[in-house]
Amino acid sequence: MLEVNNLSAGYGSVMAAQGLSLQVGAGEAVAILGANGAGKTTAVEAIAGLISKTGGTVMFGGKDISKHKAGAIAKAGLSLVPQWRELFPTFSVQETLEIGANAAGDRKPPELEEIFTLFPKLKERRAQLASSLSGGEQQMLTIGRSLMASPKMIIFDEPSAGLALGIVKTMVASIKAIQERGVSILLVEQNLDIAHAIASRAIVMSAGRVAWTGLMEEAKESEAVKEAFFA
Ligand SMILES: Nc1ncnc2c1ncn2[C@@H]1O[C@H](COP(=O)(O)OP(=O)(O)OP(=O)(O)O)[C@@H](O)[C@H]1O
Ligand SMILES: [Mg+2]
Repeated sequence: MLEVNNLSAGYGSVMAAQGLSLQVGAGEAVAILGANGAGKTTAVEAIAGLISKTGGTVMFGGKDISKHKAGAIAKAGLSLVPQWRELFPTFSVQETLEIGANAAGDRKPPELEEIFTLFPKLKERRAQLASSLSGGEQQMLTIGRSLMASPKMIIFDEPSAGLALGIVKTMVASIKAIQERGVSILLVEQNLDIAHAIASRAIVMSAGRVAWTGLMEEAKESEAVKEAFFA
């Protein structure tokens, strides 16, 4: 589904991600792990076309999307749920979801009711402004907005960041439910337990490069992974 080869991206002279290669198969869930500043967000934003790449290729569904802009990539069915939620504060919950359907391209967007089945809280708050939602509700809305584009694959950038434990459990269950519907998942996480609950394979980044790749269940035992986290 997604094949990234030798990807590099950065900010000015800072190469925040270098030589990154990874694959995510159809229906698979893969995690990108690593400490603060390892280059995870840089990598996924470059994949999603939000920042420019300085090298490498990105194939999605067999097509080369390396030079496509963010809007075209979303329309192709690759959606990014950003780390800092980035909702329009003055849009209601319902308006935010409806806007999400704009990225559906030629796929059929789901009915709002399908999103509300997954996130019942959003139904109760459908007329409320996005800015007035709690952190957990905003995360659900950001995920719901992505789902409105009927994506083939979703990249989640640290969906657990800043959320209380109870809400994290709900969020993990929702991501699993999304995967069970056949959506491929690339999950950026710092928490190994959350990544383990969702993903089967992992890529560990350290200082902008891939430090380790392997099965998720082996990641916890690996000395190289511990080093990457505490380097
Ligand atoms: N807009 C920017 N301008 C300049 N440098 C940046 C910018 N965004 C990120 N960086 C730098 O790039 C490096 C990688 O940052 P990035 O956000 O990709 O890390 P991350 O792995 O997502 O970290 P976190 O887990 O804290 O979200 C860091 O050194 C960071 O300071
Ligand atoms: Mg980040």
